[in-house]
Amino acid sequence: MTEELHDVTVTVNGALHRASVPARRLLSDFLRHDLRLTGTHVGCEHGVCGACTVLLDGEPVRSCLTFAVSVDGAAVTTVEGLAAEDGTLHPVQQAFQDCHGLQCGFCTPGFVMSACGFLAEHAEPRPDQIREGMAGNLCRCTGYAGILAAVEQAAGVLRETGADPRDRHVARDRGHDEAEVSS
Ligand code: FES
Ligand code: FES
Repeated sequence: MTEELHDVTVTVNGALHRASVPARRLLSDFLRHDLRLTGTHVGCEHGVCGACTVLLDGEPVRSCLTFAVSVDGAAVTTVEGLAAEDGTLHPVQQAFQDCHGLQCGFCTPGFVMSACGFLAEHAEPRPDQIREGMAGNLCRCTGYAGILAAVEQAAGVLRETGADPRDRHVARDRGHDEAEVSS
């Protein structure tokens, strides 16, 4: 029997996509297989590890627990939607690189997306709030210190620029960027 398909219209990283998907198509599979956005990683596939985290209308969600049909009309941001058009890293991505928050890197997209959602709600987070905010993401390398330091650094940079961490980064000229980070 042919599986029934459902029409979905969704904005992903600012681009409008229309697709027909089976009701059981997971958002994680839709992003990775249909849209070829493989930056969203899949670990546990049942909502435990956070590797598949994306922003859905600005809120972090587990894409492995979300059906693609349920995001009809919504806006999704994946890790591919964070760096500036010219490739300049988003402050959260830059902070992960600077603070050694990247180890094997498998959990990184989920941490980065969770951090973007968290920092939108906590512009001046205390260390214990960062710890709690990132508690839903697992890193098998067990190197959380660098990850937590990265979120703290990113919070500082975002406060200085006033940028919304859920938006695609807008690259400024280099001199300006360096002045902002070092001040
Ligand atoms: S893959 Fe979705 S929470 Fe682990
Ligand atoms: S960096 Fe390897 S699992 Fe987190």
